Amino acid sequence: MPRKSRKANRRHPLATVVLIAIGLAFTGGGYALFSSTTTATAETTVSQSTIDEGEKLFAANCATCHGMSLEGTPDGPSLIGVGAAAVNFQVGTGRMPMAMQGPQAMQKPTQFTDEQIAALAAYVASISPGPAIPDESLLQADGDAANGAELFRINCAMCHNVHGAGGALTEGKFAPELTGVLPTHIYEAMLTGPQNMPVFNDDNLSPEDKRDIITYLKYLEANPSPGGNELGSLGPVAEGLFVWIFGLGAVIGLMVWLTAKSN
Ligand code: HEC
Ligand code: HEC
Repeated sequence: MPRKSRKANRRHPLATVVLIAIGLAFTGGGYALFSSTTTATAETTVSQSTIDEGEKLFAANCATCHGMSLEGTPDGPSLIGVGAAAVNFQVGTGRMPMAMQGPQAMQKPTQFTDEQIAALAAYVASISPGPAIPDESLLQADGDAANGAELFRINCAMCHNVHGAGGALTEGKFAPELTGVLPTHIYEAMLTGPQNMPVFNDDNLSPEDKRDIITYLKYLEANPSPGGNELGSLGPVAEGLFVWIFGLGAVIGLMVWLTAKSN
């Protein structure tokens, strides 16, 4: 019976394709599951109408630079995988939509309402998952300020200055001052690493560490320097120089005045 055995051994021509598809779906799903559990996610269910609203806003305001399917263009990077957190940060701080090309997206007054920003974020996250907007419980500035100060000195001070006063970087870029920034945006900046800033994922700085850093920055805001004018907290050398130039300058000026008087 050659016919029967042949039939038993032969696979359907599509079998391999189906097998690969199932395999991909499993690994993809597993990956999405694991990668989304490692970030502090605010599990809010987003309605389809919010996503549709976000799609319209995106097409009108963002697609010229970022592409209709978030694929990117010569004028703006791909937004695939940046997540809701990056959109909330970039649009919420007024950096996006970018007004003009330059070394760094400038901050402007926000152009959208909170609902519109949420819709844009939901739309971008619906295309491909990425870091979510952080949970409210991590944004209360009620953590350990001392631990936050230590972490800030190690991870952030080289660019933002020990007191969060900001500082210049190379090629016309700069790390901004960190006073008056909303806790959500501080958290999202760490999570998404805008521009030249590194990404601090949850393995580098746990969600609790991020909360402590926010606590420290808010502590600084509430407790300005007790020693009088801090001269931008530039450090001992710059502050010493200030005394030399202005202090000694004043003394010399006084001497010149005195000798002029005595003649
Ligand atoms: C004029 C072009 C332009 C427009 C319009 C624009 N962007 Fe951008 N966008 C850029 C450029 C360029 C960058 C990268 C430069 C930077 O980060 O400083 C960027 C970066 C971003 C990032 C950060 C990506 C990352 O990897 O973290 C997000 C998120 C983003 N844009 C969202 C938006 C959204 C949402 C809109 C619409 C409301 C928008 N952009 C409109 C040019 C644009
Ligand atoms: C290598 C330098 C560098 C380091 C290190 C760095 N940042 Fe930044 N940071 C930047 C730059 C550059 C920007 C501006 C990005 C932009 O405008 O697109 C920025 C932006 C920010 C903002 C947004 C401020 C605003 O006004 O919207 C926050 C908040 C912030 N950083 C916090 C931190 C914290 C907290 C750390 C440490 C955990 C840190 N940064 C480490 C360079 C750095």
